[in-house]
Amino acid sequence: MKVLVTGGAGSIGVHVVRALIERGDEVSVVDNFNDFYDPQFKRVRFEKVLTGVKAPKLYEVDITDNAKLGDVFDEVKPEKVIHLAAWASVRPSVENPLLYTQQNVDGTVNVFEHSKRLAVKNVVFASSSSVYGRGITPPYRETSACDQPIAPYAASKRAGELYAWMYNYLHGLPIICLRFFTVYGPWMRPDMATWKFTERIFQGKEVSVNRFAADGSVVKRDFTFVSDIANGIIAALDKNKGFDIVNLGNNDPVALDRFVAAIEKGLGVSAKVTDKILAPEEAIVTAADLGHAQQVLGYTPTVSIEEGQQYFSAWYKNEYLKLFPGGLTPSKY
Ligand SMILES: NC(=O)c1ccc[n+]([C@@H]2O[C@H](COP(=O)([O-])OP(=O)(O)OC[C@H]3O[C@@H](n4cnc5c(N)ncnc54)[C@H](O)[C@@H]3O)[C@@H](O)[C@H]2O)c1
Repeated sequence: MKVLVTGGAGSIGVHVVRALIERGDEVSVVDNFNDFYDPQFKRVRFEKVLTGVKAPKLYEVDITDNAKLGDVFDEVKPEKVIHLAAWASVRPSVENPLLYTQQNVDGTVNVFEHSKRLAVKNVVFASSSSVYGRGITPPYRETSACDQPIAPYAASKRAGELYAWMYNYLHGLPIICLRFFTVYGPWMRPDMATWKFTERIFQGKEVSVNRFAADGSVVKRDFTFVSDIANGIIAALDKNKGFDIVNLGNNDPVALDRFVAAIEKGLGVSAKVTDKILAPEEAIVTAADLGHAQQVLGYTPTVSIEEGQQYFSAWYKNEYLKLFPGGLTPSKY
């Protein structure tokens, strides 16, 4: 099977690309190695995670460059597409709404348009739990209205889902939108809480933890280990034939005390914690209802936060610190 993966050098993408190659798919990657976080880290990750498997064909192309993206589609002639390329993260999107619209909405429409043009058999689109926004009681179900996004990033992902529905309705393009819930694991995005907390706790620095929201409610996150997400993406790639929206989470919302305890155990270091009230653009609880994922994809996550943090901490200490002893180039976003 010829599969094109956009964002295939990303923190989720590399694991998906490796799994596809291991099972014998012919994989091509589109990624522009942008500077949302250290591009050198992305390049090393791409090389290390794909060591020992047949190298995918890599196109260093920006998905917002519609003509160049079209050339890639013409050359690869993919049978299926996994569209992961995007600017992720909620907080920087509040400062850069136009950038997120251009990258996540325009870029996504380009990918859908070329997929339609080449009659691709299935497109998997990376959406996000952030689309649930305000006014929805957890656990989040795919049938919820999702019309109150609370950050530009969330609005851009919801827009991608609406375009996906339209492309399926108007052109019969099969698209499945997967709503990921806080993905973590080795080689993850360095802007995410798991990474930042692990690093600060390991260095003996204080961590400010959003244990509570402004109204006093306990903050919880449904952390999902990257191998569970990769399995869900590949199940969606194999099974989808029409339009669908499916949650991919862990169905075990974790209070942040338990999260910090899992990091402490993984690292073998005690944390110095101070409280910080959750920012208003962040959801208080994220919790995936996985009934639909189980039904349509046979998706069942297997990695607990405690086990996942063991893997992440081991990678951080044994691999990352050796490869990047001076740390990463700080992001300007
Ligand atoms: N990691 C999570 O917790 C999470 C949660 C919900 C949704 N998602 C979504 O999953 C997808 C992958 O996320 P990730 O955490 O691996 O992020 P990531 O930033 O590590 O990966 C995205 C990759 O896409 C590339 N990219 C971005 N814009 C591009 C462009 N215009 N042209 C070509 N390449 C481009 C980047 O260089 C990067 O390698 C994203 O769509 C993200 O919004 C992630």
